[in-house]
Amino acid sequence: MRFVEAGGARLSVIGLGTWQFGSKDWGYGDAYASGETARIVTRALDLGVTLIDTAEVYGRGASERIVGQAIAQRRHEVFLATKVLPILPTAAFVEHHGRMSAQRLAVDHIDLYQVHWPNPVVPLSWQMDGMRRLRESGVVRHVGVSNFSLGRWQAAENDLGGPVLSNQVQYSLAARKPDRDLVPYAQANDRVVIAYSPLAKGLLSGRYDAEHLPTNSARVNDPIFLPTNVTRAAPLIATLREIAAAHDTTAAQVALAWVISHPNVVAIPGASSVEQLEANVAAAELDLTDDELRELTAASDAFAPESGAGAWAQVVKRRVHK
Ligand SMILES: NC(=O)c1ccc[n+]([C@@H]2O[C@H](COP(=O)([O-])OP(=O)(O)OC[C@H]3O[C@@H](n4cnc5c(N)ncnc54)[C@H](OP(=O)(O)O)[C@@H]3O)[C@@H](O)[C@H]2O)c1
Repeated sequence: MRFVEAGGARLSVIGLGTWQFGSKDWGYGDAYASGETARIVTRALDLGVTLIDTAEVYGRGASERIVGQAIAQRRHEVFLATKVLPILPTAAFVEHHGRMSAQRLAVDHIDLYQVHWPNPVVPLSWQMDGMRRLRESGVVRHVGVSNFSLGRWQAAENDLGGPVLSNQVQYSLAARKPDRDLVPYAQANDRVVIAYSPLAKGLLSGRYDAEHLPTNSARVNDPIFLPTNVTRAAPLIATLREIAAAHDTTAAQVALAWVISHPNVVAIPGASSVEQLEANVAAAELDLTDDELRELTAASDAFAPESGAGAWAQVVKRRVHK
């Protein structure tokens, strides 16, 4: 395993995302929630993963509970990250929710506590006050944000009166916005970008096409899985496969290797099985050449998925006709 060291923290470049744990959005079922998840966590730790990411909203607390149980005997090996859903995030709300998450996780501290989404209505300063209180009382070690623009990230740092370690954002060969300013900011300022959906929710594995689309709500409700977009992704997936073949590996592993080839970036892929987790961890050891990285970036540049209001209208239409 390789690590990113920044802002006094050390995170494995491949972490484990756990939205899937106990969540109806992914629909992996009871056997997954009650058995496979624990095996995934144990295997991840065995293979040197330290970063585990969850959130109070995943499975309405189920993910945090599952993670808490799975790491109980190995807490010291984990850099544990969770998130507050900022519905009406006064300082007291953030503080209370941080303590509730720690309770569900059965830990005395959370390594990274993140504001899940920006709330444009409630002042950021209130949320950072809550974060400061949690940090001062030792419940939280590092403060993070998620889905924040660079301006908001910096505003959060202003309100906190110090560094906000990380910004967790969608970042993959199918979602390149963080390249513009978030990744350069992290690299220049000893911060971290935590890449979520680094496989574009599995699209970049090449397992799906317009005739074989996933049916769970996490993906049906995402415009990236519109048949037109899956079809448009075909050349990018072909490039991934071609480079994967040269390394005797898979498209998914190449997609992850591209993400973590960027300094100060770590990825937190989710996994529906232990085998996927093992493959994802192995991507940390995959060295792509500069030419291959350039080829992937060019294939990604050429991928223009339909987005915006038109794409969302199609998502709604598909749901209505289901
Ligand atoms: N902060 C936020 O707002 C936010 C938003 C989304 C996610 N997240 C976090 O980021 C994590 C990861 O994102 P994500 O789950 O949305 O997307 P992802 O990691 O890009 O995709 C995960 C899915 O890809 C497939 N997959 C995983 N490894 C694979 C492999 N080696 N080969 C083939 N297929 C593979 C699996 O689905 P199938 O096997 O069913 O195809 C798996 O459930 C989440 O668990 C969560 O912790 C955060």
